[in-house]
Amino acid sequence: MGVMKHYRELLPVTDKTPEVNLEEGNTPLIYLPRVSSRLGIKLYGKFEGCNPSGSFKDRGMFLAVAKALEDGKRAVICASTGNTSASAAAYAASQGIPCFVLLPAGKVALGKLAQALMYGAKVIAVKGNFDRALELAREGAEKTGCAMVNSVNPYRLIGQRSGAWEICDVLGKAPDWHAIPVGNAGNISAYWAGYNEYKRIGKIDKLPRMMGFQAEGAAPLVYNRPCPNPETVATAIRIGNPVSAHLARAAVSESGGEFNAVTDEQILEAQRILAAEGGVFAEPASCAPLAGLLKLQRAGKLPEGITVTMILTGNGLKDPDTAMSQVGRPTEINDNLEDLMRVLEGK
Ligand code: F0G
Repeated sequence: MGVMKHYRELLPVTDKTPEVNLEEGNTPLIYLPRVSSRLGIKLYGKFEGCNPSGSFKDRGMFLAVAKALEDGKRAVICASTGNTSASAAAYAASQGIPCFVLLPAGKVALGKLAQALMYGAKVIAVKGNFDRALELAREGAEKTGCAMVNSVNPYRLIGQRSGAWEICDVLGKAPDWHAIPVGNAGNISAYWAGYNEYKRIGKIDKLPRMMGFQAEGAAPLVYNRPCPNPETVATAIRIGNPVSAHLARAAVSESGGEFNAVTDEQILEAQRILAAEGGVFAEPASCAPLAGLLKLQRAGKLPEGITVTMILTGNGLKDPDTAMSQVGRPTEINDNLEDLMRVLEGK
């Protein structure tokens, strides 16, 4: 039914807000028995890759675009490591308005680039990193009057609260730990606000600990200082100076949670484990939380038996190059039964 219809009473929508709906939200909360038993916890993955543009960004983008239209804006602009641009381009296309996206040149996964181009956005490759592209996008928005639809747009984070509401609606409570990748730091803040709102209206009585995971080469919140040259295989979270750092810090400290860093090797290992033991293919950034849980377990810092939800923020299909760089190639055979039997019998 889409997030606007499902959670209308919790959203700032009025009779004047146009309906913008690509049937986002209502993504599966998948129990992962094999990965759970490896970790000694009850682990659920919220598979945000099932959203219409393949990432969690759609949860807030429908609202950012709807409010932009309500305010009389006629174009949208964003900077992105890939997913925001795909989402903005999709929703702009659905409403017939132009979309400008600024991407760090050469650092966006192929699937995301293909999406933005297919949806018809004007794609601008900036010779610089995401943080710089974001500054430029903000200046461009100011000069042109385009609506800025990065997570500095408050409606994005309000819409993204819906992820927390869905988790609580399914579990009947909040998890003990909420594990989430952190890049520009909007989503962890949105989830924290969402859980708090559900507590305020009496839907849950206990809040989760917010556990934020960053890539070692782009971990400004873990090390408490901006990272001028962020670098990681998880390009979605290749961000050195998160705009919502203050909100993310508040979420972690108010909830008694923590930030933690994981290496690229740990992220890729977690991606393979999630796929091969969970049956879920998520993009590298989305696997930072699982990498972190594995790391905490090895250090004896993962309490046994707790319920953990991790947010699988984007679909693995978006970044086929990184996946193919870690796996073998298909076994090729001639088109005869003997060749096939040799493979089936493991010879
Ligand atoms: N996971 C994925 C797959 C992402 O695309 C992002 C952010 C994050 C996690 C981090 O979320 O920024 O709210 O802390 N992607 C943005 C983009 C920056 O441009 O697509 P965050």
